[in-house]
Amino acid sequence: MRLAGPVLLAAGSLLAACVVSTTAPGPSPRREDPRRSLYRAKCHSCHRLYPADRLSAEKWPPVMEKMASKAKLQDDEKEQILSYLLEGARRPGTAPERK
Ligand code: HEC
Repeated sequence: MRLAGPVLLAAGSLLAACVVSTTAPGPSPRREDPRRSLYRAKCHSCHRLYPADRLSAEKWPPVMEKMASKAKLQDDEKEQILSYLLEGARRPGTAPERK
């Protein structure tokens, strides 16, 4: 067991190297649209995140009303998520609505 000391030391420096490499610069998730983060945080606990273009701009508001109460959203959270979804909403006449 005379080697235990150096081996532990080596393992320790390997661990340190890993920690350093995970903090390497890269695209920061904080640059994401904050409304999208909110959507992700609030709306995927019961089902997958539906893409904004699943529904048209006429369909999202009533669906949001229903889902906002399921997700217990504050009014301002509902507004933000709805505005995010409306920006990506399906344009009428582009693709058939998926069910
Ligand atoms: C408490 C569970 C729950 C949460 C939280 C939830 N949903 Fe839903 N969602 C459901 C259920 C159940 C259905 C399918 C049945 C229905 O329409 O009620 C559904 C269906 C949907 C559909 C499909 C509707 C359609 O007609 O195609 C969309 C879009 C949707 N949810 C969006 C959202 C959004 C946006 C949020 C966040 C604000 C959200 N959901 C949060 C339970 C939830």
